[in-house]
Amino acid sequence: MSAALKTTGEIGRSPPRIEARLKVTGEARYSSDMAVERPAYAYLKTSSIALGHITAMRLDAARAVPGVLDIMTHEGDAAGLKEVRTFMMGGQSGTSMYPMRSNEIRHDGEIVAVVLAETFEAAREAAHLIEVEYDEKAPSATFDSPGAKTVGPGFLKQALTPGDPKVGDAEGAFASAPVKVEASYATPTQHHNAIELYTTTCVWADDKLTVYEPTQFVYGTRAAVATELGLSNTDVHVVSPFIGGGFGGKGTYTTRTGPIALAAKQLGRPVKLVATRDQGFTIATYRAETRHNIRLGATPDGKLTSLIHEGFEVTSRPDGYKVSGVETTSRMYACPNVLTRVSTVHADRSTPGFMRAPPEVPYMFALESAMDELAEKLGLDPVELRRINDTQHENIKGLPFSSRSLMQCYDEAARAFGWSSRDPKPRAMRDGDWLVGYGCATATYPTNIGPAAIRLHLDAQGHATVASAVHDLGQGAYTMLAQLAADGLGLATGDVAVALGDTDLPPGPIAGGSNTTASVSVAIAEACENVRQLLAKAAVKATDTPLSGLDPKQIRLEDGALKGPGNQVESLVVALSRFGEDGITVRADSGPDGTPPLGTTILSKGIPVMVQGMSLKDRVQFAFGAEFVEVRVHARTGEIRVPRITGAFAAGRIVNPRTAHSQLMGGMIWGISSALHEATEIDRRSSRFLNTDLAEYHVPVNADVPSVEVIFVPEEDTKVNPLGIKGLGELGNVGTNAAVANAFYHATGRRIRDLPIRIEDVL
Ligand code: MOS
Repeated sequence: MSAALKTTGEIGRSPPRIEARLKVTGEARYSSDMAVERPAYAYLKTSSIALGHITAMRLDAARAVPGVLDIMTHEGDAAGLKEVRTFMMGGQSGTSMYPMRSNEIRHDGEIVAVVLAETFEAAREAAHLIEVEYDEKAPSATFDSPGAKTVGPGFLKQALTPGDPKVGDAEGAFASAPVKVEASYATPTQHHNAIELYTTTCVWADDKLTVYEPTQFVYGTRAAVATELGLSNTDVHVVSPFIGGGFGGKGTYTTRTGPIALAAKQLGRPVKLVATRDQGFTIATYRAETRHNIRLGATPDGKLTSLIHEGFEVTSRPDGYKVSGVETTSRMYACPNVLTRVSTVHADRSTPGFMRAPPEVPYMFALESAMDELAEKLGLDPVELRRINDTQHENIKGLPFSSRSLMQCYDEAARAFGWSSRDPKPRAMRDGDWLVGYGCATATYPTNIGPAAIRLHLDAQGHATVASAVHDLGQGAYTMLAQLAADGLGLATGDVAVALGDTDLPPGPIAGGSNTTASVSVAIAEACENVRQLLAKAAVKATDTPLSGLDPKQIRLEDGALKGPGNQVESLVVALSRFGEDGITVRADSGPDGTPPLGTTILSKGIPVMVQGMSLKDRVQFAFGAEFVEVRVHARTGEIRVPRITGAFAAGRIVNPRTAHSQLMGGMIWGISSALHEATEIDRRSSRFLNTDLAEYHVPVNADVPSVEVIFVPEEDTKVNPLGIKGLGELGNVGTNAAVANAFYHATGRRIRDLPIRIEDVL
């Protein structure tokens, strides 16, 4: 890894998004917008049962619809498609249950047929005319359902993280603790519901396949498609320049893509699928419901002596997906005795997967609620309880945090929020008919980082293009890459063009785990340093320049020029003239601390590579924040409002305060949503999701979030990476649900331990 580079100023500015104009004018092409010649349209037919077998399919009426071209079922060639290993097993897939390989149905909404037609309308009409007969079995739906099977911590081979951290004697310490909290918490099923639906467009040319599909990992999608169709990776091109929201749902491969690719091949023309909103609830992953048993022991002055966190997560019958947020909660506060245990509960369900801070949102809800309960038992201010248990070393191995500014976040956010005006007694604050409550909680997210490859081109006029197969989900990746390259080259952000989201570009990290900026910044810095060296070495050898004979190490790129130590200046265009018409092209492959050698080669094969913030040998890396919420509950109607929320965050160096502000604000809004709005309801008899549309799956709108205040706490971290950048994509979303629940308790005197909080909880 190269040494830290001097930065010349573009980092930390807030240029407008370089792709903003494309987006607001509709020029930005999302995957289903790609113009393809004479496409056929696909429409999925999905199962209306969760468990059993198909005994008959009647297709005649569907086939008779004018414009219908073909109908794929398990009785056709789809059964010959290969299956892709799950993410947990080293592959890319979100599930091991591949549909239409046989007549078996293993979860609600499994794909049973794909109708292909001249128009979307014809395909849809035909799909609705397909009659499927099932031999239905009684499915297990969720926790406490007959037949749901709990698998304890032994089942680790598919775990996301090594699992179940512990230290000391937590059971003993809890038994003898003078002050105790023991409580159980629960979080609901949630679905991503990005505005962009799950779409796939496949085009063949000369036995080469192009897939336009919104994905958080183009190289992963490429490898998965190649596996499923028995192609080599290089025969597949995946294009995903803009993604209309991912939230984790587009991070793993879904089973829809293979059949669409096969259909396009068989029809000899492009095929376009836009799955419907309700199908998105069952053909992709989601956040599973969780349960938690927490036990906290403390001394009378508030020092934690024992932390026991037991988690239960629902998953599918065959797949061991779990998020194991105890990796974070076990390290959150100083405590000598920690015990954790995570079990999966296997039911007849589609396999869950990553969603918006997958481990931290449910697990920190439990811990941060329990901390609030403990503060009350101790008669301590909840902020002071965090201060008493703040630490610069994690509990499990005693490793230092690379940096940890948690209490600075608490202090700044508390001041801005006006926490000191809080009357600590529940139900003590009232405004007319409104019960008013203040609550707070900790936000945290590990600083994950991985390898990345960058191609950097500087043309003869001094304009740069930076290219890498990273992904823009709306978070501002285009602008951030431009800024980082501009910073390294001494240019303005506007002088840099950016290409991303395409397997024709060098491999970049999966857009997951909030790792894009922290990872890619390292490769960009290296590429810029390579360019600087090339320019400087050529300049000092030349005789026609004030830089002649200088030490190339002392030459810096600044303001569109090369500058020497004594203010010798040569313009970049003149320096570039030594390289001919094509300018300079370099490629840099970065492999930060803890990543395997040849990390970008592994990435290019579609295997994600990322070191988690808690998996390094000599330190742990997390970003932190503190969130304060005002909740108002109407004493007569039970209406619950969040008029304002304030969060302060420390996440190392901020590349673009504007886009970072938007990400944190968006995260906090999702956090309010996770406390009060979002939940997918499951019919316990049929194991089917019920509210599979945006009318009944509630997400917050503007009226639900009147005031969201985001504060940046400056933080220098010299260890996370050479530029001191931590990720913050998922940070704002963590702890908010607990802050809302804690404020709700303060307003009403009712502790809600099962999310979301509903009007029934008031009445
Ligand atoms: Mo994010 S849920 O890690 O895509």
